[in-house]
Amino acid sequence: MKALILSGGKGTRLRPLTYTGAKQLVPVANQPILWYAIQSIVAAGVTDIGIVISPETGEEVRTKTGDGKRFGANITYIRQEQPAGLAHAVKVSREFLQDSPFILYLGDNLIQNDLDWLLHKFQQQNLDALILLRQVPNPSAFGVALVDEQGRVLQLLEKPATPPSNLALVGVYFFAPTIHQAIASIQPSARGELEITDAIQALIHQGQTVEACQLEGWWLDTGKKDDLLEANRIILDTCLTTSIDGEVDAKTQILGRVQVDRGTRVINSTLRGPVIVGRNCHLENCFIGPYTSIADGVTLIDADLEHSVLLEGSRLVGIQQRIVDSVIGQRAHLWHAPRRPKALRFMIGDDSQIELI
Ligand code: TTP
Repeated sequence: MKALILSGGKGTRLRPLTYTGAKQLVPVANQPILWYAIQSIVAAGVTDIGIVISPETGEEVRTKTGDGKRFGANITYIRQEQPAGLAHAVKVSREFLQDSPFILYLGDNLIQNDLDWLLHKFQQQNLDALILLRQVPNPSAFGVALVDEQGRVLQLLEKPATPPSNLALVGVYFFAPTIHQAIASIQPSARGELEITDAIQALIHQGQTVEACQLEGWWLDTGKKDDLLEANRIILDTCLTTSIDGEVDAKTQILGRVQVDRGTRVINSTLRGPVIVGRNCHLENCFIGPYTSIADGVTLIDADLEHSVLLEGSRLVGIQQRIVDSVIGQRAHLWHAPRRPKALRFMIGDDSQIELI
């Protein structure tokens, strides 16, 4: 058994962060999203992992993630020259996959469930494909499946205008090597991509066994800002334990589960967990509210924030109002005049969003 994680793509929905970095490396609870996928696959006992990367962000993914030793895995990187679709990414990975069955995992997805029982079902039943489904309120935004009472998949449609069910296709799949013939038989869709839904539909047409499991636990597709914040909230809620390795002064109050990494100084502040603060940060006269992740090298002085994700090297100084539901990019600076300002002065990158509420 092998695994293939897709970490290429365009990442248009997470601009401007994806102009300068891979969306799969955006941190959730201070760890790149992609690493959760790797850990989950390794936990299921699969250690031979291929990661599909793009020419634009591939080097960053490779440098940060490495050869897999730290995860107990062996990672092979596969370059996809164009983001020509999920099935295309599988096609370009053929040399790595050989004729092995594999898990296909979208590198910006997170699921709560362990993979081992799904892998067990896939292997026990000798399936050609096992797909995961989750009920969603807005199925038109996803690949949608129609299944019978036994869990056999009858039909799959990519972002249908009139969805046949409310069961969305989750970004984790199990495939036998028969998927390669199915991919070879399909044509690019109207949006010009080789769709994995079309390939699975082709398997169904060929009479192969395609089954589905419905997930009860959470599933997050972190490709958009609000989903990213939600992933951050859930991971902090479920996984964070208290550890204070940085320097916290006597005037600081720590409430609930809080992690402060080494080299960080916290002065005269309140940290109300769950909150995670990375290395070498400086926090002074701050209120940091629940569900906030602060990456390495961040400076916060006279700032008040909650339910937010701050990327490496960002700096917030003298912000009078509370900052909520925000994602602040790497090295972004926000500062404020000491009194109520007469004017606001900005240097904002393309596709940034600023909401004064
Ligand atoms: P998507 O989120 O569907 O596509 P995208 O990354 O192009 O994002 P957006 O819609 O915001 O422009 O992709 C799901 C995952 O698969 C994601 O981790 C990127 C990856 N991917 C590839 O590796 N190759 C591809 O050709 C495509 C389309 C996606």
